[in-house]
Amino acid sequence: QSDVAGDLADILLTEEQLGSRLDEMAAQIDADYAGKDLLLVGVLKGAVMVMADLSRRLHHPVSMDWMAVSSYGSGTKSSGVVRILKDLDTDLSGRNVLIAEDIIDSGLTLSWLVQNLRSRGPESVEIATMLRKPDAAKVEVDVKYVGFDIPNEFVVGYGLDYAEKYRNLPFIGTLAPHVYA
Ligand code: PRP
Ligand code: MN
Ligand code: MG
Repeated sequence: QSDVAGDLADILLTEEQLGSRLDEMAAQIDADYAGKDLLLVGVLKGAVMVMADLSRRLHHPVSMDWMAVSSYGSGTKSSGVVRILKDLDTDLSGRNVLIAEDIIDSGLTLSWLVQNLRSRGPESVEIATMLRKPDAAKVEVDVKYVGFDIPNEFVVGYGLDYAEKYRNLPFIGTLAPHVYA
C-alpha cells in the first residue's frame, strides 16, 4: 500500500480551515442552545470527525449518541435507499436533537433522517454539517449550521470515504482520476 498523497488531485479545505470554521459553528451552537438540553446525534461513519471536533469545541453540556445509516454502499452515487444499520440507544421524547453530518450531497439521507427522528417526539431536530453541495441537491433540506458550501465534485477525507478509504485524512480533498479507473 503506497501513501495516499498520490491519490489526491487537490486539497479543497485544509485542517486549519476546517478547524476555524468549527470554532465559529460551536460558538453559534453554544449561544443558540444556552440553558437547553442538547443531544448530538452523529451519523456513522462519515460524521465521526465532525462529531469529535465539534463536540470538543462546545462549552455546552451535551449527550452524544450515534446512528448508522447508509445510502451509498461502495459507489460514488447516492442510491436514495436509506438503511438503518444501527439505531439510537436514546429515547428522543422532549429532547433537542442536533444531527452532526460530514456532508449533504443529494440531501436524500438527511431529509429521510430528519423525518425519521421528528416522528419520535423530540422537542426539536436540527442539522450541523461540515459540507454541503448546493448543486447536487435533489431534495431541499433545512440546515441550521453549515461549515462550507462546496462545488459538485467527489470529495474525500475528514470522515468522507471512497470505497471506505481516505476517511482518516485530516483535510478535504478531491481524488485523482486514476483512482476511479
Ligand atoms: C455519505 C455521507 C452522508 C451522505 C450524504 O454517507 O456521509 O451521510 O452520504 O449523501 P446524500 O446527501 O446524497 O444522501 P454514506 O451513505 O456514504 O455512508 P458513510 O457515512 O458510512 O460513508
Ligand atoms: Mn454518511
Ligand atoms: Mg460513504
